[in-house]
Amino acid sequence: MPRTIYFDYNATTPLDPAVREAMLPFLGEIWGNPSSVHHVGQRARAALDDARDRAAKFLGAKPSEVIFTSGGTESNNLAIFGAARLLKSKGKHLITSAIEHHAVLHCFDYLEKKEGFEVTQLPVDPEGRVSVEVLKKAIRPDTVLVSVMAANNEIGTIQPVAEHGAVCRERGVVFHTDAVQWFGKEPFKNAGQFNADLVSVCAHKFHGPKGAGLLYIKSPLHPDPVAFGGGHENERRAGTENLAGIIGLVGAMEKFVNPPVFERAKLEPLAASLAEAVAKIEGAELVGSRNLRLANTVAFVVRGTDSIALLAGLDVEGVCASSGSACSAGSLEPSQVIKALGKPERANSLVRFSLGRDSTRAEVDFVGKVLPEVVRRAQLGK
Ligand SMILES: Cc1ncc(COP(=O)(O)O)c(C=O)c1O
Repeated sequence: MPRTIYFDYNATTPLDPAVREAMLPFLGEIWGNPSSVHHVGQRARAALDDARDRAAKFLGAKPSEVIFTSGGTESNNLAIFGAARLLKSKGKHLITSAIEHHAVLHCFDYLEKKEGFEVTQLPVDPEGRVSVEVLKKAIRPDTVLVSVMAANNEIGTIQPVAEHGAVCRERGVVFHTDAVQWFGKEPFKNAGQFNADLVSVCAHKFHGPKGAGLLYIKSPLHPDPVAFGGGHENERRAGTENLAGIIGLVGAMEKFVNPPVFERAKLEPLAASLAEAVAKIEGAELVGSRNLRLANTVAFVVRGTDSIALLAGLDVEGVCASSGSACSAGSLEPSQVIKALGKPERANSLVRFSLGRDSTRAEVDFVGKVLPEVVRRAQLGK
């Protein structure tokens, strides 16, 4: 059997067996449509209501503040399009940061190009942080929405979102945070901790199923819907609910978010060893914050080669890593995050290792051992 070392937990995590077990009845005997009035549907409705109550309890929210979605992308789209369109008569200025996930950035691009909004993209400091002072200065009387992610997927930098949110609240501006990479990795108390009106969550980042997520919407905010049809999710997200996915999301959240399944005490020393190995390689440079970052994430750029060559070389060794950018069929989109860090000439050469629950010291040692040669071969184009 070829070796597999999976260091790509920020991309996705395996479904936990107990979470899968809890989902199975909803892929089998409980198959009704929760909107049906008959008893088959009502059995599904009872399970859906119970899942929403559990999610709300876990988040410290009201059940009506929980909107089940198909994951992080949809939660972000609903938050951004929904809030911007709702509030456009108040103002058409929006603020985000330069290092958001595409599921945020592309929403803002669309609103600017097609719907007449003006978007300010906040810069980041060399560690990838969005300064609270810079945000304060960027808010204008016509600003209606600010979106800053809680933790970055590519370089792991953690943002002071509770402070960003407090500034927005003081100025009467709606605040959204994409917390997809936060849940399961950083301490969680309740949805209020971000001082946000809108919080995006995605199950498959913490051993839940793919295609399941939620958007916390602080009442009384009622974003415009982006999907139209039935009156599901309190008129905010039309479409028959993915009950098995929702059960999996809620189960994984209860099991893996508090305390976080990504244990800092275990992962920090492993990530430190990997970072040490990277730092010794000629032409490699670590990126992101040394202190204010997710414990599982080590990201670096390399002189004289690109991510595709590096990832292919790692894969030959059985190591699954990622570039922050979208690679497909030999083409590479430069990393927006590395550009924002002021290193545009390195934006094609990002490699991200993201460790998780099953990562071991032996795996880290192996990667540390093969990495210099993988880099050297990639630099030589071999
Ligand atoms: C920060 C962030 N936001 C949003 C998403 C999109 O989530 P999903 O895969 O559930 O659509 C991801 C997934 O990589 C992410 O890392």
